[in-house]
Amino acid sequence: MKTLIVCTSVSHGNTRRIADAMGQVLDARVLDPDQVDVGGLFTYDLVGFGSGIFSMNFHPRLRQFVRSLPRGERRGAFVFSSSGLPEPGFRPYTRGLVRLLEDKGFQVADTFACRGYDTWPPFKLVGGINKTRPDADDLHAARAFAEGLLTRTRTGS
Ligand SMILES: Cc1cc2nc3c(=O)[nH]c(=O)nc-3n(C[C@H](O)[C@H](O)[C@H](O)COP(=O)(O)O)c2cc1C
Repeated sequence: MKTLIVCTSVSHGNTRRIADAMGQVLDARVLDPDQVDVGGLFTYDLVGFGSGIFSMNFHPRLRQFVRSLPRGERRGAFVFSSSGLPEPGFRPYTRGLVRLLEDKGFQVADTFACRGYDTWPPFKLVGGINKTRPDADDLHAARAFAEGLLTRTRTGS
């Protein structure tokens, strides 16, 4: 299965570490949106899209990249993020990115989220939160998520 991971990780490299763990399992390159050849994107069977969460949304560069994609034939996709806090029920930003991808013809197989070291200004005052995250358990969970994607693709479920 030919897989690519598109990742914007600007704050502490938290999401990039998650992407690299998934990339090892999926044998996938991890690229910043600026490095992706949009025309070639549709040669992949599966594309992952991830970033940190900023002001309750995926990074604007990742969202802009997805918005700029032409509508293509149906391809597999997955979405992942790292954030200081869990996604609030009143602001389902993962669902928003999934919908955007679906509008572009992607079929989103699954989503993954974990905590990351967070120095958002209010938390910076106390030295940040989640200082050790993503940790070994988070990376293990990211690899297990990627294994699940592989299994699902093999069994067609
Ligand atoms: C300016 C700023 C805004 C942020 N906004 C949020 C937010 O709305 N919700 C949240 O849970 N975390 C927020 N965070 C924390 C980041 O999502 C978290 O640190 C993430 O792991 C960063 O990923 P990265 O290192 O891959 O860029 C914010 C961090 C910064 C610096």
